[in-house]
Amino acid sequence: EMSAEERAFQEKIDAGIKIEAKDWMPEGYRRTLIRQISQHAHSEIVGQLPEGNWVTRAPSLKRKAILLAKIQDEAGHGLYLYSAAETLGVTRDQVYADLLSGKVKYSSIFNYPTTNWADIGTIGWLVDGAAIMNQIPLCRCSYGPYSRAMVRVCKEESFHQRQGYDLVMAMAKGTPEQKAMAQDALNRWWWPALMMFGPSDGESVHSAQSMQWKIKILSNDELRQKFVDQTVPQAEYLGLTIPDPELKWNEDTGHYDFGAIDWEEFRQVVAGNGPCNRDRLRTRVKAWDDGKWFRDALLAHAEKKSERQVA
Ligand code: 3HC
Repeated sequence: EMSAEERAFQEKIDAGIKIEAKDWMPEGYRRTLIRQISQHAHSEIVGQLPEGNWVTRAPSLKRKAILLAKIQDEAGHGLYLYSAAETLGVTRDQVYADLLSGKVKYSSIFNYPTTNWADIGTIGWLVDGAAIMNQIPLCRCSYGPYSRAMVRVCKEESFHQRQGYDLVMAMAKGTPEQKAMAQDALNRWWWPALMMFGPSDGESVHSAQSMQWKIKILSNDELRQKFVDQTVPQAEYLGLTIPDPELKWNEDTGHYDFGAIDWEEFRQVVAGNGPCNRDRLRTRVKAWDDGKWFRDALLAHAEKKSERQVA
């Protein structure tokens, strides 16, 4: 049974009124947003690692500059999202400690290895493509700071997706070896990209409440279907084959039917047993430890400055 405050809150949500940091909100709304926004921020920060691996191996200065720009964007997206999480009353150190302790997660997709250059293009094309699919609705989510952060992020994500597709196109239209690399990367990234959208709607523990609160506008399966419908023609244009023998256009529904997702693989990766989970966390913990002297120096400098001002 809703309290008067909760009813008034839900009426604001239903009327499409944005909730701002200073507004009253149910504790569950605050907690769900802290959970989702901080995991989203962690995904941006950890997501830099698979790509960082290829900065020194980029095949041209142009591709290196593009990749550096993309990785820098991801760092910025992380900062926007950590700032959005801070408006809900958590500190950046707190949420970051939860990432480093393994207590909270980041997107499953970043636990897969980038074994060659075609992976870099395929990540832009599929992973950033899926991220855009998921983040466009978030521009309309009910929490003001999150929705506004998403507007800026989505503008940069479209550059990420475009440069990825351009890279894969260069390979798919290149030598037979390059095309084979592009096909191999598609084979390895297709299903993990579909898993990015989360469990099926029936298995999703948060969707019903998140949709009532307009944190989630479209369901996991709806977004996954939009992604498949949009991406299949792009693969066909490149002359690449989607690694799903059950993929078939369904004239009646106007969507592609596709095969079953391996939810056991998803559960294993989310549980920390993916190919790169331990490596990703170790790298982030090392970066945190190695940066301690720098953070301490900044704080010492800030304290001295504020003492001088007081004096
Ligand atoms: N990887 C890891 N965990 C996942 C996941 C994934 N791909 N999909 C779902 N989960 C987790 C959820 O976090 C939840 O676990 P929790 O209670 O411990 O948090 C559990 O699985 C149940 O899933 P639900 O669908 O019930 O959970 P949500 O309602 O939170 O939906 C979501 C999952 C769609 C990912 C939603 O959290 C969301 O939209 N998050 C914001 C966007 C985001 O994080 N995208 C990740 C892509 S990375 C990215 O955008 C960076 C870009 O630069 C590539």
